[in-house]
Order: sequence, then structure tokens, then C-alpha cells
Amino acid sequence: MSDGMQTIQWFPGHMTKTKRKIAENLKLIDIIAEIVDARIPQSSRNPDVDALVLNKPRIIILNKSDIADPQKNRIWLDYYKNQGTTAILVDCKSGKGVNLFVPAVKSILKDQLERASHKGLNKSLRVMIVGIPNVGKSSFINRLSGGKKARVEDRPGVTMGNQWFSISKDVELLDTPGILWPKFDDMLVAEKLAFTGAIKDNVLDVEQLAVRLLTCLASDYAENLAKRYKLENSCVVGKSGLELLEVIAKKRGMLLSGRKVDTERAAIMVLDEFRAAKLGRITLD
Ligand code: G4P
Repeated sequence: MSDGMQTIQWFPGHMTKTKRKIAENLKLIDIIAEIVDARIPQSSRNPDVDALVLNKPRIIILNKSDIADPQKNRIWLDYYKNQGTTAILVDCKSGKGVNLFVPAVKSILKDQLERASHKGLNKSLRVMIVGIPNVGKSSFINRLSGGKKARVEDRPGVTMGNQWFSISKDVELLDTPGILWPKFDDMLVAEKLAFTGAIKDNVLDVEQLAVRLLTCLASDYAENLAKRYKLENSCVVGKSGLELLEVIAKKRGMLLSGRKVDTERAAIMVLDEFRAAKLGRITLD
């Protein structure tokens, strides 16, 4: 497992390109929209983004809020509010919350808009989306454009090959998001990224990963496990991840010859079901 993690983390070419792209585009935009996965709002942020985007205004999009724990969604909103950062809850699957975006951007940049209007200018606010893979950047951009991207005409010296499109009368979005790399010095962060699918399974030991996920869930979401796999609560609480994986494999009839349980098959199933929110709405940060 650790070998796989190191492979993913070691991405210098990719990092340099991303940094350059974000730095180039920074001059052209008024605000950064940073998308995170509401199930792991902390682990799905790249902390380097703070240094990269300097003091540009920022809005945090807590996406996939439909499959995150509703109570924790509120806690995270309050957390950002207390820090003086605007955050919104969004669900790109249904589109819920997407309509909060433009008003929130305008509210953050209202001084800029007012100054422009005093000068008689029609200022368009420009937004760049950033985020690590799989948090829903493309889904969000598609939602905002409503499927029909109304291109903004190229303006000399400004667009440099970028494509912009209007998402409202006075807000424009950069077509391509800034893709950040996930960052994990911490094993727990790496695991959470893997649970949600932000790090691909083929570089990880799937059984080990499922065991770790079950260990996490048994402490905070024991009832969800009991309900999904029709287990007594007492069969979940205090059990190790491996014991749980074996119980689940047995319960689902995943057996090998010689009465052994097929923990690999069960591991794949548990991870798939977690990612598809079949275990309920769960937040791990
Ligand atoms: P990215 O550009 O940041 O890499 O993410 P992308 O939009 O490709 O979304 C990654 C996956 O997350 C997609 O699932 C997408 O459907 C799903 N997703 C995005 N936003 C939300 C959301 O708000 N709620 C939920 N529940 N899921 C969301 P996929 O399995 O890769 O593809 P598919 O299921 O759309 O076929």
C-alpha cells in the first residue's frame, strides 16, 4: 500500500505544469472557486493552494453534499464562516445549491462591482475553478453552463487561448479548471482520498483499504454498517476492520472453496457501496 501512495505523490512534472497554469491565469481572474468533496472537506483540499493563489478572494464549494453527513455539512459551513470564508453546499448530481454560486461570488466581490459601476463600467467578474481530481469540477462547470456553453468572445491580450463562458450577465467562468494534485504527508489523509476514489484503486491494496474503511466506519458510523449489512449493532461495535470484512463477506455469501470467505470480493463491494453512498451519508473529516 505504501508503495502505491508514494507513486501517486511523486508527480513533479504535473505539479510544475499546474502551478504555472494557475499562476498564469491568476492575473486574469477575480476569484478562485475551490471545490472540495464534502465527505472529506479537509483531506480533499491541497493546502499548497493557499500559497499559490496568494490573496485572491476565494469561495469554497462543498460538493457532493448529497452523500455527505447533513449534520457535518452544517458544521463545515460554520467552520468556514467563522474563518471569514464563504462556503456553499452543492450537489451537482441534482443541481441543488448551484444557484447559490453567482450571488455568493457577487457578494464577495461587491466592492469591485460597485467601483466599476461608479465609473460607468460594465465589469464582468471572472472565476477560475480549482480542485483535486474527482471532487466534481467538470460536473460543476457543466451545471453552471447548463450544458450550453455560451462562449465569450476572445479579447486581445486577455484570453491567451483560454475559453471563457458567461454564467450570468456579469460573471464569466474559465472553461478549464485548475487541476491540483492531492497532497498527503499523513497516511490518514491518503486513506480518505482512496476511500472516496480520489486515488485510484489499482495502485492500492483493496483489502487493506476496505479494512481501514471499516475500522473508521465502526467507530463513527456503526449503525450505518449494521443497517446495510443486516448485522446486530453488537456485531459491529468493538470489532476490528478485518473481522467486519469477514462477517460482511459471509453475510453476502462470498465464499471460496474450503469454507474460506472471499475477503477480496467483499472488499471491492464495500468500497463500491461506500462510494455510491449505499452505506448512507457519511463524512470522514
Ligand atoms: P473532476 O472533474 O473534479 O475530476 O470530477 P467529475 O466532475 O468528473 O466528478 C467525479 C465523479 O463524482 C463523477 O462520478 C460525478 O458524477 C460525481 N459527482 C460530481 N458531483 C457530484 C455530487 O454533487 N454528488 C454526487 N453524488 N456525485 C457527484 P463518476 O462515477 O466518475 O461518473 P458518473 O457516475 O457521473 O458516470
